[in-house]
Amino acid sequence: MTPASPEQFKDAVRQAWDASASGWNQQTPAIRNWLAAPTATLLDEAQIGPGMRVLDIAAGAGDQTLDIARRVGEGGRVLATDISPAILQFASENARGAGLPQVQTQVCDAEDLLPGETGFDAAVCRLGLMLCPNPLGALRQMHRVLRPGGHAAVLVFSEPQRNPCIGILMTTACRHAGLAPRDPLTPGGLLSLGKPGLLQDYFSQAGFTDVATERMQAPFQLPSARDYLHFVRTSASPIVQILGHLNPEAREAAWADMEEQLEVFQLPEGWEGPNELLLAHGMRPLG
Ligand SMILES: C[S@@+](CC[C@H](N)C(=O)[O-])C[C@H]1O[C@@H](n2cnc3c(N)ncnc32)[C@H](O)[C@@H]1O
Repeated sequence: MTPASPEQFKDAVRQAWDASASGWNQQTPAIRNWLAAPTATLLDEAQIGPGMRVLDIAAGAGDQTLDIARRVGEGGRVLATDISPAILQFASENARGAGLPQVQTQVCDAEDLLPGETGFDAAVCRLGLMLCPNPLGALRQMHRVLRPGGHAAVLVFSEPQRNPCIGILMTTACRHAGLAPRDPLTPGGLLSLGKPGLLQDYFSQAGFTDVATERMQAPFQLPSARDYLHFVRTSASPIVQILGHLNPEAREAAWADMEEQLEVFQLPEGWEGPNELLLAHGMRPLG
């Protein structure tokens, strides 16, 4: 079940996101509601303004791409990139539908960014870097494509205990699938960059200066735990893949078990799953 090489891992990631591209795109209103405030801060820290040329890495269906496009305006340019052609197609269509011709798209791996391209004013990555088996390599690529003085900013999940819903999902899925619990810090996993200090360290090692990291609360608010599970089931979550090996009855039993545990986060006014994100940012030095 464990891919043998980083390339096999990325092939599996690409296939998973191709398969769930439509589901992720349909969840855009919920994702927007969940991530609106952290996204605004992400774009502030990347110092994105009118007329800039910005690279959006692991752009998905382009929710944050559209925000960037509005900030740079008609005189700017946003290049949205992703490893999954199917999800990037949604980003392209969504930009066209929103009347934002300054958005272009290009399929590419974050660890092998746009060979030969440089000079971007800013580069951002929202909830994508932790899925790279070599996140330091991806940050080095971000550094390479920026102009001197350009800014990079990245959002990832923080440590496991501050993202308990993901922990419940992973532990329960592994137990039902008869698998040993996974180390949440394994490279490429959802919580893999949550270890305190790790992302900050990687930014410095990649050559960025003025590096800073801040924690951001991003509770997922939905009517019920079942709605959250619907979101998980329609995304390329590893949970879906872990349970994919079970027969339908066993799979439904696993989802029901998760739902029961997640109901602990039900409030009178609705369901609120705690989530904490890390926002790290830095500048490519001028010299
Ligand atoms: C959780 S989604 C986030 C999408 C979008 N940034 C958002 O916040 O809505 C993760 C995205 O990372 C992309 N991705 C995963 N590994 C990647 C890699 N090595 N290079 C580029 N994109 C990658 C996936 O295809 C997917 O679109």
